Amino acid sequence: MSSKPQKIAIVTGANHGIGYETAVGMAGAGYRVVMACRNQEKAESAKASIIKRLPSASLDVMAIDLGDFASVRGFAREFRATYTRLDVLINNAGVLLYSAQTNGDGIEQQFATNHLGHFLLTALVFDLMPDDPASRIVSLSSIAHKAARIHFDDLTCGGNGGRAYGQSKLACLMFGEELHRRLQASGLKTRSVPVHPGGSDSGLFDEMSRGQYYFFKVLSPFILHSNASAARPSLFAALDPAAEGGIYYGPQGYREFRGRVGKAYRDPSTVDSESAKQLWQLSEQLTGQAFSLETPVTNPA
Ligand SMILES: NC(=O)c1ccc[n+]([C@@H]2O[C@H](COP(=O)([O-])OP(=O)(O)OC[C@H]3O[C@@H](n4cnc5c(N)ncnc54)[C@H](OP(=O)(O)O)[C@@H]3O)[C@@H](O)[C@H]2O)c1
Repeated sequence: MSSKPQKIAIVTGANHGIGYETAVGMAGAGYRVVMACRNQEKAESAKASIIKRLPSASLDVMAIDLGDFASVRGFAREFRATYTRLDVLINNAGVLLYSAQTNGDGIEQQFATNHLGHFLLTALVFDLMPDDPASRIVSLSSIAHKAARIHFDDLTCGGNGGRAYGQSKLACLMFGEELHRRLQASGLKTRSVPVHPGGSDSGLFDEMSRGQYYFFKVLSPFILHSNASAARPSLFAALDPAAEGGIYYGPQGYREFRGRVGKAYRDPSTVDSESAKQLWQLSEQLTGQAFSLETPVTNPA
C-alpha cells in the first residue's frame, strides 16, 4: 500500500501573531510546516506552544531574515537541501515602522522585508512547486494599500514610515497579482492569491508611540478581530479549492477590519499593470535575482 507524501508549507514570520495562527491552521490541515523565522529562540518556543495545542503537528524551524537577502538565499539553500517539493508558500512576515530605517543594502526596511525578501524567496523556491491548483503562493497585503503608490524615484517615501508601510503592502499585492498574470501566461496551474487579514492586535503595532499604543489597546477589542480570525484569509487562500488566483481576499465586516472571508476591496486607483511590471523589474534588480517562471533555479547561492 502506497501512502501519499506529506505536503509541505512554508509560513514566514510563523512565530507570532497571524503567522503563528496560520502555522497552526496549516499543521491542522495535515501539512508539514516550515516555520521561517528570524529569531530561532522565539521560533522554537512558538513551535513548542503549537505542539502543545496540536500534538500531531509536524513542524520544522528554519532561519530567515527577510530584510537580509544573503539570509533569504541561505534559507532557500537549506530548504532545497532538505525538501524536494513545496506545496504552499505563505509570505506572511512583516514589519510596520514609524521611523526611517534601511536594511544592510541601504533599501527602505519595510520595502525590503515585506516585499523584496518575499519576492526573492518566491523566486528561489518556485520551481519546487508542483504544477497543480492546490499549489499556492499567498501574499499578505493590507487595508493600508489603499491610496498608496510605489515611489519608484524614492522608496523611502521621503522618510515617512507610515507611507513606506503602505507602499510595501501595495507592493505585496501587486506582486501577488503580477505573479498570477505570469502563471496564467505560462499556462501553469499554481495559484497566486493575495490577501489581507483585516486588523488584529498582533506584534505589528509595537513600534507605535506610547500614547497611540494605549489608545490602540483600548479600541482594538471593539473593532478588530483575533489573530486566529485574522489568519482565516491566508488559510482560505492556501487551502480552499474555491480560492481563485489573482483575486484579493479579506474580511468583509466593518471597514474590512474583521468578518467572514470574501473578496476584498481593491483600491482601483492603485491598479496599474505597467507599474506592476516595473515593480517586478525593480525587484529583480534590487535582489540581484532574475525571476522567470520557466527557468528552474539551479543555483540559489
Ligand atoms: N495585524 C494587523 O492588523 C495587520 C493588518 C494588515 C496586514 N498585516 C500583515 O500581516 C502580516 C503578519 O503580521 P502580524 O500582524 O502577525 O505582526 P507580528 O505579530 O508582528 O508578526 C510579524 C512576524 O513577522 C516576523 N518578521 C518581521 N520582520 C522579519 C524579518 N526581517 N525576517 C523574518 N521575519 C520577520 C516577526 O518576527 P519577530 O517576532 O522576530 O519580530 C513576526 O514573526 C504582516 O505582513 C502584516 O503586514 C497585519
